[in-house]
Amino acid sequence: MRRVVFLHAAACAILLGQAGPYQRQTVDQTAAVRGRQLYTQYCINCHGALAKGTDNGPDLIRSPLVLRDRLGNEIGPALKKLPGHKSDLTNAQVVDITNFLKDQIESTAKNRTADRPPNVLTGNAEAGRAYFNGAGGCTKCHSATGDLAGIGRKYKDAVDLQQRMIFPRQTKPTQVKVTPAGGATVMGQLVRIDDFNVSLRDATGQYHEWTRGDDLRVELDDPLAAHHALLDVYTDKDIHDLVRYLESLK
Ligand code: HEC
Ligand code: HEC
Repeated sequence: MRRVVFLHAAACAILLGQAGPYQRQTVDQTAAVRGRQLYTQYCINCHGALAKGTDNGPDLIRSPLVLRDRLGNEIGPALKKLPGHKSDLTNAQVVDITNFLKDQIESTAKNRTADRPPNVLTGNAEAGRAYFNGAGGCTKCHSATGDLAGIGRKYKDAVDLQQRMIFPRQTKPTQVKVTPAGGATVMGQLVRIDDFNVSLRDATGQYHEWTRGDDLRVELDDPLAAHHALLDVYTDKDIHDLVRYLESLK
């Protein structure tokens, strides 16, 4: 199976005591509500009510820095460095703001926040086809006549199609290999990873857990890593063209 081999080559991230850039942060809704308050107080004037930017500040929804951020690891340092930004927020406050921004990103993908129902079918299907088969590299893993045949029927609402393209559901578990300094490698299905701990269940069903540190080598094989990396690659236009093209695969 060519596809599986490719996934291994492309999606392996080697992490040494550090959070992976493309592990998606799941939104904590309670924190997002607190984050909205902080955002409204300190950020809204320049970055706008939907975080899509104003004349005074850039769009944060499509900012690669924000998309890559995980629990403040990019935004925290950026706020300290960027001129005119509030540099004395606590880590907890920054995490709340990231939850608000991640929630906005997902809402924007679904366009839940738009005033009127969005038309996500504004792209050009031919351009989408060309991107799919060419620059987008989608055919490394997908085929318009194979796994994605009929995708336009599967998701009747193009907004759902767009959301599933940008944030696919995970159908296969993330595999992980952990090697302690001087110890043997243990591998299995990832149970949980954060900045402090990593845990897995091995093939026999046994649970293992480690404290993370520089001497612990953690190799993740996330089947969706390539998709998360795409967030930094495709433009709004590419996304619109792709959705228009995929929607036509009925
Ligand atoms: C006075 C206006 C203003 C306020 C208030 C403000 N920003 Fe900004 N922000 C900017 C401008 C202008 C830039 C672009 C600066 C640059 O690129 O040098 C920016 C850049 C950023 C970036 C980097 C985006 C990127 O892709 O590089 C982040 C992240 C950010 N702001 C987050 C925030 C957050 C979070 C808050 C509230 C705590 C905030 N900003 C408040 C004006 C503002
Ligand atoms: C490295 C492999 C890889 C690449 C490259 C890739 N994808 Fe995917 N894609 C996946 C995986 C894995 C899934 C999750 C579903 C699955 O397991 O089949 C997925 C899911 C999707 C879905 C949702 C399918 C559904 O039925 O819900 C869409 C749509 C999609 N990808 C479109 C694209 C497009 C468009 C590109 C190119 C811009 C692309 N993918 C590039 C691996 C990849």
